[in-house]
Amino acid sequence: MRAAARGFSAFAGAPPEGKVLVDQELVIRGGHPLKGTVRAHGAKNAALPIMAGAILTEGTTILHRVPHLKDVHTMGAILGALGVELEWTGPNSLRLTSPGAGGTVAPFDLAQRMRASICILGPLLATRGAAVLPLPGGCVIGERPIDLHLRGLRALGAEIKVDGTTISARAARLRGARVRMAGPRGSTVLGTANVLMAATLAEGQTLIEGAAREPEIQNLAHYLVACGAQISGIGTRRLLVTGRRRLKGAEHALIPDRIEAATFLAAGAITGGEVRVQDVCPAHMRATLRAMRRMGVETLEDERSLTAARKEPLRAAQLATAPYPGLPTDVQPQFSAMLCLAEGASVVTDRVYPHRFTHVEGLRLMGARILRTGSKGVINGVARLQGARVDAVDLRAGAALVLGALAAEGVSSITGLDHVDRGYQDLEHMLKALGADVARREASATPDRQRRSA
Ligand code: EPZ
Repeated sequence: MRAAARGFSAFAGAPPEGKVLVDQELVIRGGHPLKGTVRAHGAKNAALPIMAGAILTEGTTILHRVPHLKDVHTMGAILGALGVELEWTGPNSLRLTSPGAGGTVAPFDLAQRMRASICILGPLLATRGAAVLPLPGGCVIGERPIDLHLRGLRALGAEIKVDGTTISARAARLRGARVRMAGPRGSTVLGTANVLMAATLAEGQTLIEGAAREPEIQNLAHYLVACGAQISGIGTRRLLVTGRRRLKGAEHALIPDRIEAATFLAAGAITGGEVRVQDVCPAHMRATLRAMRRMGVETLEDERSLTAARKEPLRAAQLATAPYPGLPTDVQPQFSAMLCLAEGASVVTDRVYPHRFTHVEGLRLMGARILRTGSKGVINGVARLQGARVDAVDLRAGAALVLGALAAEGVSSITGLDHVDRGYQDLEHMLKALGADVARREASATPDRQRRSA
C-alpha cells in the first residue's frame, strides 16, 4: 500500500482484519438547554469536489480545514487508487500530489459508497482521456440523476456510455462549448463542479449557463484559479472558462461548513439555549438565518461567528428550500425538527429533493405531529417530545433526530451513525461541549420502529 495513501484506505476500506464493525448508537438524555461555543469545521461539500480537482493538476496541492469525515476518507482512498499521493500534514491539512498520468478506473467498492465520487469524471476525462466509474446509486432522499452531468460533459466532446451500473467515458481532447447546467429543479451542484473542472483544460472557451452558485462551487472555482485556471463570473449563474494546457497544484483553504454550523445553531434553538458557532461565514447563511428568525430564534453575528438563542417558544413557519442563495435543502430536516416544537401549524416544502422526509418516522416516534404529503412536511407543533429508539437512514435525517432527542424529555437512542458520521466530525464531543448528555456506544436495541412492528 502506498505509504502516503495509507491513512485513507484503513479508514475507508474494510474493517481491520478479524474485527467486525458493530452498529453504534448515540444515547441522548434530552431536555437540557445547550449553551456554549463550538467551531465549525471545513465544508464537506467543498472538500469532495476540490479533492477530485487535484487530479487536474501537476504537482502538489495543500488543502486546509479538511474535515475528518467518512466521505472525505472515501474520496481520499479513491484518489489514492488512481495514483494521487495523499498525506495529512496537520490535524486538518491535507497534501495531495497528483501524478502526470495514472489509472482511469475508479475502485467500484469505494466509489459506490457516495454520490460525490461522480465528480472525478470531469477531471479524469480532462487529464487522462478516459474514466470508468459506478453509476451513483439513488439514495433515500430521492432520485439522484446525473443526466445534467453527462449532457454537459458530452457538450465538451466526451463520449459517455452508461450500461447498468457502469459509466464508461472517453475523450481524446475536450473542446470548449456552451453548456446549460440547469434542470427542472434548478441547477446541479456537483454537475456544475464536474463540467467546470473539465472545462479548465478543454481547448478554447466554455460558457456554463445556469451554473450552481453554492459557496462550495465558488470555493472550488477559487481553488482552480489558484491552480492557474481562467474562470470569470464566479458566484454568478454564468461561468466563462478559458481552457489552459495545464494546471499546477496550489495551497487553498476550504470554506466553513454552513450546514454543520446551521445544525449546531438549531441545537441551541431547539433546546431553548444559546449556541455560538465560530469560524463561520455569515454571508453564506443569509436564508438560513432568516428562516431561524421567522421561527422566533434570536440570531447575532459578527464577522466570523454566529449565535442563536431562544427565550420565547418557537413559532410556526412556512419554509421552502431552493438552490443557493435560497434555504438549503440540507437544513430542511433539522428545521423540520425545530418546527415540531413550535406553536401552531407549519408547512415545509423541499423543492430540491421532494422525497427528503426520511426524518418524519423517527420524529413521530418521539411524539411529533408531522406527516409528509408529496414534497411537503405538514407539522402541528406539540408542547414536548419524548425520548425514543430511532434509526437514522440518511445524513441530515440523522441530524434531525439528534436535534429531536436533545429537546425530548427522557432518553433516546439513535442508530445509523454510519450515515451521520459522513457529515459531522466529532459530533458527540461538540454536543458535550455545549452541555448535552450524550454518549456513543455499541447499539443495544432495535429502534422502536422495528420493535413496534415486530
Ligand atoms: C449536492 O449534491 C450536495 N452534495 C448535497 O448535499 C445537496 O443536498 C445538493 O447538492 C443540493 O444542494 C455534495 O455537494 C457532495 P444536485 P448534488 O445535483 O450535487 C437534480 C448533504 O447532505 N439533478 O445539486 O448531487 C437532482 O435530482 C448532501 O451534504 C438532476 O435533475 O445535488 C436534485 O433534485 C445531500 N440531474 C437537484 O438537481 C442531474 O444530473 C439538485 O441536485 C443532477 C441533479
